[in-house]
Amino acid sequence: MSESLLTVESLVAGYHGSRVIDDVSFSVGPGEGLGVVGANGAGKSTLLRTISGLVAPASGRILLEGRDITRLSPDRIARAGVLHVPEGRRVFSGLTVHENLRTGTIAGAARAGSSADPYDAVLDLFPRLRERLNQQAQTMSGGEQQMLAIARALMGRPSVLLVDEPAMGLAPVVVKRVAEHLRTIREHWGVALVVAEQSANNVDGIVGGHQLLVDGRLREVDSGGSDRANLLAAYRAAGADVPTTARSGRALTDGKNE
Ligand SMILES: Nc1ncnc2c1ncn2[C@@H]1O[C@H](COP(=O)(O)OP(=O)(O)OP(=O)(O)O)[C@@H](O)[C@H]1O
Ligand SMILES: [Mg+2]
Repeated sequence: MSESLLTVESLVAGYHGSRVIDDVSFSVGPGEGLGVVGANGAGKSTLLRTISGLVAPASGRILLEGRDITRLSPDRIARAGVLHVPEGRRVFSGLTVHENLRTGTIAGAARAGSSADPYDAVLDLFPRLRERLNQQAQTMSGGEQQMLAIARALMGRPSVLLVDEPAMGLAPVVVKRVAEHLRTIREHWGVALVVAEQSANNVDGIVGGHQLLVDGRLREVDSGGSDRANLLAAYRAAGADVPTTARSGRALTDGKNE
């Protein structure tokens, strides 16, 4: 197991005194990933927004390579290497692909050993974007816009990438393509990847595993474990999709429907 890049310790966060995230802890290392799976309102976006400094935590700590970044401003957190692709594939609709990518450049971004301009490497990863450099973002398909949003974050040379519901509203074939890109970013770029999704099936191919967010808490997912029935009940109670396990490719069931 490699050293941790991003460590979240006992994080509690919410809005106006409410607890949306309640005692969440995890860590991810370079090239590793974590899927955060939960239904609407589970707190996925709140968790990602707290890590990237957009929501102030009530308590707990967020460490990047052992350095406490919990109270830093969002721009300093981004500069330190933690970049966030928010829900809803936000791109600058009136700007071209090239201009969108350039807005992702972060001066003085801190990632070790990557001082070179990542523009060409990003376009090598997303050849569809290279074909559309002068196209306005608003005229692109949903899948292309999602790829642009991810590519724009890569321009900031992240060591940690937080991606909020990349599959939302996309056709299955496009979801697969976006997932392949994200897996490449993790495996070949060595980025630590945290992906929030409503369906476990959408994250297993990207990060190879996930945890379920229930009532603001992360639960380990051990589909072969003895508490399989409890886990399933938790999925159903949480309104999350019942996942297909990555290894077996079979749906996670309690044995009654198999
Ligand atoms: N800015 C805000 N002010 C007050 N409450 C908020 C705010 N943003 C989110 N919430 C509440 O926090 C809870 C968790 O919301 P959050 O957006 O984190 O969930 P989510 O898991 O991302 O859901 P979805 O799958 O719909 O995106 C919800 O009850 C929501 O109403
Ligand atoms: Mg959300």
